Amino acid sequence: MGEVIVLVMERKLVECAKILRKAEKIAVLTGAGISTESGIPDFRSPNGLWQKREAREATTRSCFFYDVDTFYHYFAQLFLGWTGIKPNPAHIALAALEHELGKLVFIVTQNIDGLHQMAGSTNVAELHGNLRTATCPKCQKQYDMIMVREALAAKQQPLCECGRVVKPDVVLFEDPLDPYTWRQAQVWTMKADVVLCVGTSLTVSPANTLVYNRRNDSTLVILNTEPTRYDSQADFVFREKAGEVLSRMLSICRQQE
Ligand code: APR
Repeated sequence: MGEVIVLVMERKLVECAKILRKAEKIAVLTGAGISTESGIPDFRSPNGLWQKREAREATTRSCFFYDVDTFYHYFAQLFLGWTGIKPNPAHIALAALEHELGKLVFIVTQNIDGLHQMAGSTNVAELHGNLRTATCPKCQKQYDMIMVREALAAKQQPLCECGRVVKPDVVLFEDPLDPYTWRQAQVWTMKADVVLCVGTSLTVSPANTLVYNRRNDSTLVILNTEPTRYDSQADFVFREKAGEVLSRMLSICRQQE
């Protein structure tokens, strides 16, 4: 990166870090891009998960209810192979803003990988659900995802005691969001002094509408390696990798102690 560009970026980082330092409440909207540095592919980048059209078409509510074997074939391929994943410097920096700098950090994530909680973030709203559990659509009994993994490994359908196939607690295309989680996300972004969007193309609603759902006097920061349709509304836009930018921002915040 040229000398001048580095200087410009550094100045932008310092300015943004100053605002984070002063902020009391920070809402962070994250997407798959914050987890790519943990080895998990995102969805819409050139090597993203949705490049396989059939996989994208199978990850829907209708596919679960009308062709459950195809659903689980692709679901297992897409999401159940993430063994030994760990938080990366981006997740860790967000947790440090909370635990080291004493900020109120509210994470609204579209991710199901649980890496924010693993990094130590305590306020996490999982808009698109999680990979920890699965629920019977008929009797609502909840199971640990281990049961699903074991059934699929044995080439069987993951069945509830009542005989129905259980559904992962992930928000599939055509699924409604959990109303409580959605309300929480709206309240967090509305109350925030800074809204930070990290590693999300901001193409999926209603998550992307949270960018509008903020105070007029709040600061909007977009950290994404590709342009998003909301960049023109942002006070700061960073095109570099989340791990690099957030770690750098955290260390500048520490120096401003
Ligand atoms: N640092 C910063 N940005 C990154 C990085 C990185 N290391 N790696 C990838 N990105 C950016 C990509 O440029 C891309 O624009 O992250 C963005 C991820 O966008 P998507 O793949 O569209 O993922 P996301 O925004 O989370 O998708 C939202 O869509 O398919 C549904 O339910 C799924 O939760 C998902 C939702």
